Amino acid sequence: MMYQPTDGFRWTARLQSLEDYQLLYRRSIEKPEEFWGEMAQALTWFHPPDTILDADLDLADFSWFGGGRLNACYNAVDRHVKTRPGKPAIIWAKNEPGEYEIITWRDLKHNVGRVANVLKAHGVRKGDRVCIYLPMVPELAYTMLACARIGAVHSVVFAGFSAGSLRERILDSGARVLVTANEGPRGAKRVQTKAITDEAVEGLSQVQSVLVVRRTETHVPMQAGRDWWLDQEMSKHRGTCPVEWMAAEDPLFILYTSGSTGKPKGVMHTTGGYLVYAVTTHRYVFDLQPDDVHFGTADMGCITGHTYVLYAPLTNGTTTVLFESLPTYPDAGRLWQVVDDLKATVLFTVPTALRVLIREGDAYVKKSSRKSLRLLASAGEPINPEVWRWYHDVVGEGRCPVVDNWWQTETGGVLIAPLPGAIPCKPGSATLPFFGIEPVLVDDEGRVLEANGASGNLCIARTWPGQARTVWGNHQHFIDTYYSRFPRLYFTGDGCRRDEDGYYWITGRVDDVLNVSGIRLGTAELESALVAHDAVAESAVVGFPHEIKGTGVCAFVTLKPEYQDTSPEQMEGALKKQVRHVIGPIATPDQVRIVSGLPKTPSGTILRRMLRKIASGETQDLGDTSTLAEPTVLDELLKQQLQMESRR
Ligand code: WTA
Repeated sequence: MMYQPTDGFRWTARLQSLEDYQLLYRRSIEKPEEFWGEMAQALTWFHPPDTILDADLDLADFSWFGGGRLNACYNAVDRHVKTRPGKPAIIWAKNEPGEYEIITWRDLKHNVGRVANVLKAHGVRKGDRVCIYLPMVPELAYTMLACARIGAVHSVVFAGFSAGSLRERILDSGARVLVTANEGPRGAKRVQTKAITDEAVEGLSQVQSVLVVRRTETHVPMQAGRDWWLDQEMSKHRGTCPVEWMAAEDPLFILYTSGSTGKPKGVMHTTGGYLVYAVTTHRYVFDLQPDDVHFGTADMGCITGHTYVLYAPLTNGTTTVLFESLPTYPDAGRLWQVVDDLKATVLFTVPTALRVLIREGDAYVKKSSRKSLRLLASAGEPINPEVWRWYHDVVGEGRCPVVDNWWQTETGGVLIAPLPGAIPCKPGSATLPFFGIEPVLVDDEGRVLEANGASGNLCIARTWPGQARTVWGNHQHFIDTYYSRFPRLYFTGDGCRRDEDGYYWITGRVDDVLNVSGIRLGTAELESALVAHDAVAESAVVGFPHEIKGTGVCAFVTLKPEYQDTSPEQMEGALKKQVRHVIGPIATPDQVRIVSGLPKTPSGTILRRMLRKIASGETQDLGDTSTLAEPTVLDELLKQQLQMESRR
């Protein structure tokens, strides 16, 4: 069924018909430089760009807005202080319900300036990396913007990752300054961010200063000469700090994300292209209106936090909500209460959160008014059609368009989404490409599938301003990951179907990346975490459909001979703990299956496809099993699966 934009929404929308969209889309594809040149004018440039695009697809080398100079912090902060000093820039919704703090644009500039001066006093210069390991507190926004102000490159690490993951990212980025908090309240828990940081930087001479946000009254040990309370440091400095005018292609930030091979990679985004793409997508995809209060629940450790909680709303002069808590704390009514308290107009969350809330029943939703809402958005994983309908019918009472937007850390901003007001929706489809985006479906042999009704690997045919330019310190890895599978095409790693109307349906990752509750985990990373345990000989990790998380983690493990007598329950517990410790709680396997052998080909390749099918309960259709080196292995796996099913 098609959901047409309601008349009520359409009347004030920026784009009011499919023809409006098609006209602009066509222009963006036929005359990309003209189109993006115009869009770039939404920013304030110290020096306007001389050229719009310089691209070499063979070398995976792209440059947007060459010759242009600008500063992201100036665009997000300074220019709005002149026109709207007293308007809330950020509303901080603290962990405890009903506790809010308003940060106006004037306050924001003052605090960002002070943090920028603190960073400078601790030796941070243009081009240096600063690692940020913080809960969702205002200082997180201040520090990111302060980095942008002085030309430093921030690397935000999700405060749900372990000490080991943090250490790996600090080492890879070469950050010498780290910003953390004494602890981070999150629902009923308190994340021990400082203790985790201490473990992460232990013995690392690279890290010279650790700046500590005083989020709670709890005392934490401070190492003299290395650790500094950020509030004390800020009190030494005034708010005035000159901005560094950056070249458009200068890095704005790096953000680590998991890929199909090896360790997480630092995806690098630029100052000019990223920001132009962020403000343009924000304006059209969320149908920006002057009095919007934008409430995105994403953590800043994800790209959604960077683009649609921080940079795009602030640069567009929109009030943004910084949400420290969880959708289920203290109960399933939390999001709706924040919406009502702050009169939020746009709500942007992830399908996992919606799936959890649906289970709690509609009463929590219906207790609230939600009158202020005019648009509902979802991203990060495929949204099930029934969840889409619940979002639309129950949360939005049929008034608000649901904008299911598809994109990635690497794309900087949304690539496929219904522009509300213009594009009719089908629940479960991200619908049509954004301006300047040309999706291409190719089969495994690299043949382009032109016809509608085709399914294949989703690629993008040309560059767009928000595209990541490189992997930090390893451009070859960038080429190998995104441009080697299909020459001259950006490979997304997602599978996709294009239906008869040309609508795109993302079917999920086709590589070795699992999307667990909207967080990317590489099976290779999970496997190395397991193999690092003394007892483990070999492991293979696959995903399986999970009712809440979208994808669950299933680990098949063989044990070393000396551990084979350990009770399976004890071993499973120990291995779950192991992954939790090495990567972080989010990565904890849902299932650990101890087996005596893994299915392999005679040459030793693990047949993951087979494991994936078994873990998903699709045991009837395992495909060709004749390549198995040891057929008995399969019998054991199937027996185990049947036992698990009968226990359920
Ligand atoms: C998945 C998050 C279906 C997809 C913005 C992608 C989605 C990965 C959607 C990127 C959506 C994101 N529908 N799948 N609307 N949005 N994905 O880098 O598999 O954390 O490749 O960026 O999430 O995750 P990332």
